[in-house]
Amino acid sequence: MNQAIVASADAEARARAAGVPIVDFDPESDPAFKADPLGMILAAQRYGDVFYSTAARGFWVVTRHELCRMISQDLEAYSNRETFTFYRNPPPIFHIPANLDPPDHGKIRRLIGPLLSAAVVRKLEERARASVAKIAEEVIARGHCDFMADVALRIPAEVFLEHMGLPLDRADEITATRLLPGKLNASNDPDGTQLAAAVAAVREMFEEVVAERRRRPADDIPSYLLSQTVDGKPLTDEEVLQLCHTLLGTSLGTTASTMTFMFQRLAGEPELRRSINETPEIVKGLVEEALRCYPAIPMVSRTVRSDRDFHGIPWKEGDRLVLLLSAANADLDVFPEPNQFDPDRRPVRHLGFGAGPHRCAGSLLAQMELRVLVEEWHRRIPDYYVGDLSELTHEVSVAVRMTTLPLVVGAPAAQ
Ligand code: HEM
Repeated sequence: MNQAIVASADAEARARAAGVPIVDFDPESDPAFKADPLGMILAAQRYGDVFYSTAARGFWVVTRHELCRMISQDLEAYSNRETFTFYRNPPPIFHIPANLDPPDHGKIRRLIGPLLSAAVVRKLEERARASVAKIAEEVIARGHCDFMADVALRIPAEVFLEHMGLPLDRADEITATRLLPGKLNASNDPDGTQLAAAVAAVREMFEEVVAERRRRPADDIPSYLLSQTVDGKPLTDEEVLQLCHTLLGTSLGTTASTMTFMFQRLAGEPELRRSINETPEIVKGLVEEALRCYPAIPMVSRTVRSDRDFHGIPWKEGDRLVLLLSAANADLDVFPEPNQFDPDRRPVRHLGFGAGPHRCAGSLLAQMELRVLVEEWHRRIPDYYVGDLSELTHEVSVAVRMTTLPLVVGAPAAQ
């Protein structure tokens, strides 16, 4: 008999015996998640601090800030080896460092740290400003844009692709290939064939770059990685390929997602837009509030490493967990009036980047890109409004994204 099915029936029985709510919480194939993924995740708070979902292969769901934080920090008790926990048919993808446990995780994290440090991000800021300025001028000339395709997906690519050793003139194609997995799920790719093909295409791209950089090193991330050692041994091509895949995979769609949600919000709040130009120092807080309210990765996964009692719930080795970061970011114990979008909120303790040793390695880069976008865009385009949203749906995988955000430059005509 299928072991996953046995495991989920057993976990469900334990949930029932412990009085834990049992719910069909199914981000992969419930159409309501496509309409409003963050709303659906927030609404799951109503089931309790922890509940059990019978969807996919069965998983426990954690909704509270403190519990998500504690689990994220405890790598000895909870493994990160699986990412696609709420998928029926998880793709055979193993990302480093994301899917590594100690001690290997720490070794790779230390190694990639310098690639995303404050000093590197400071150097990339000028490029980000130039990119936003150019894109904003194009939008002004046209009078409207699809903010997702024309702005949000382009900025992270323009800031980071060349750093990854990839040609900027193929940015659209690279971004589209890379983002394809986010569009695929149990309903449109049941056996994972298209997803495997998209992953293979990204891999092929980096195989060329890595082979080339072995022959002729350049000033970029693949060349840096090829020069690194772990435990005295140089990284293998396979490890370099996996790291490149992770860095590309984590750096584009996530930032674009938060940018788009944030601009949908700003488009509907003229007062807030005005205050950006009047008091530019609010931008940092505004970005943090966007990361709290619209985390691009609203759910992260863990696997229980050994049998344990979790606040009276008997968890067993191999049990799957999903931590609802966006519900944690609206936890009343931590955030008074969580539904208010408040750039002055202090202290900032959101879990938009996760917590603990796996906390986002690119948070400084993402924060800089979001801040620069707000500053440079508003210098040029103080007023804008949302166009026809009838085509809007969301991609829901590990990251969530709006598929489109039509924006029109200027103030809407008076009714
Ligand atoms: C708004 C944009 C972003 C958000 C919301 C975000 C969020 C996250 C979250 C929630 C995690 C997982 C934490 C966990 O499993 O506990 C993560 C991991 C990671 N992120 Fe980001 N991220 C963003 C942008 C970036 C960028 C620009 C990069 C640059 C390359 C990046 C690189 C990574 C890496 C390498 C990991 C794996 C870290 C590890 O497992 O040690 N992220 N991110």
